[in-house]
Amino acid sequence: MGFNPFKEKGMPIEKQFRNWSDLNSKPFNKDEVHPYTRCRGILMNGIETEAAIFLHQCARHTKDIEVKRNIAMSRRVEQQQQKAVNWCIPGNQSVLETTIGYEQVAVDLTAWMCRNEPDPYVKQVFDFGLLEDFDHLYRYANLLEMKQGIKAEKLVGKYTEIMPGRPTIEEHRHPFDDIRNQGNRKKMDPQTLMNVLTLLAGEQQTMNFYMNVGNILEDSIGRGLYLEIGQIEEQHVTQYESLLDPTASWYEMLVMHEYNECYLYHGFMEQEVDPAAKKIWDLHLSMELEHFRIACDMLQKYDKKDAEELLPNTFPKAITFESNVDYVRDVLRDQVELTAQETQFVPKQELKKDSRYMKVQSILNTGTVPSEQVIKEHVKKLGTDYRYLLKGEHPVERLREAA
Ligand SMILES: [Fe+2]
Ligand SMILES: [Fe+2]
Ligand SMILES: [Fe+2]
Ligand SMILES: [Fe+2]
Repeated sequence: MGFNPFKEKGMPIEKQFRNWSDLNSKPFNKDEVHPYTRCRGILMNGIETEAAIFLHQCARHTKDIEVKRNIAMSRRVEQQQQKAVNWCIPGNQSVLETTIGYEQVAVDLTAWMCRNEPDPYVKQVFDFGLLEDFDHLYRYANLLEMKQGIKAEKLVGKYTEIMPGRPTIEEHRHPFDDIRNQGNRKKMDPQTLMNVLTLLAGEQQTMNFYMNVGNILEDSIGRGLYLEIGQIEEQHVTQYESLLDPTASWYEMLVMHEYNECYLYHGFMEQEVDPAAKKIWDLHLSMELEHFRIACDMLQKYDKKDAEELLPNTFPKAITFESNVDYVRDVLRDQVELTAQETQFVPKQELKKDSRYMKVQSILNTGTVPSEQVIKEHVKKLGTDYRYLLKGEHPVERLREAA
């Protein structure tokens, strides 16, 4: 028998609180940690942040004090989980080094989803986002080498290449063109649901992170790069959230969130190579199973709906952090010139001169564009841009030489 989240016993909610020293996780060694252990931690921090904020929104939309109490209880635990996970990052890992981790998450998480997404439209949306975060990794890696003398390949390992994607300067679109077709939860494949919920939480955390840390850099170019890329993360959150089914009730959304947490901790517990991280995934899984059970009870009590009609009793295929070098190269070759027009993707060469994309571009990209400037300065200082190539030259001719 496989793992059935509806049947597995979790940890009773009243036993889930931990004391301060248990929460104050021993940080990993930034030179020794597996790149994908760092990635899993970054992603789960985003998932727990979404859990807490979602539950706050939930509380603001109910008059029922019993519901407020129940969600306050599990929310306090979500917050503890967020601390235990995020405090694994050591203080000597700089904001910029952590940022490389964030963009590696975006690249390898999105690429895995593209390769495992049953809905062709959603896959296309993922492919589109993939090339943008792939470019962010390149821009930040250049800033990292220029400012701190650190090569980002030390952080990403031999798993992820670093070279231009869809150039960040070309990613700035009109907000109307970030909205995608909305899903229908009754028809959506559970794999699609898990992919969208997970990626959305990850992108949202990246957006929050850049919003808050971008101004701790001292030089104007670094500050500029974070604010420019931060605005693209806003576009990405807009894109991914629009794929969800907006007609789901609060209790349905709650059940889906807790199921997603169980699914991720379960998958990561099985894949984890770092014993300390594995222990956290294992412990959190047992907590989430109980959150899920409580959420299913609420769905039953208040919506008179059975969670088993909403979600399968075996998890979809587990999201895996793994190298996607060939896949990313293929998408680069075929899709780097695309932009979005309403809910679809078109080569930007097909757009008219007075299109809203061109108008937004001409407003935002007047004067210095930080994502371009960082490369120019790197070339000026070190003779060339920073790249980390594992499979030969760049697949797109116009991106072979630093501008
Ligand atoms: Fe959680
Ligand atoms: Fe990004
Ligand atoms: Fe992103
Ligand atoms: Fe939870």
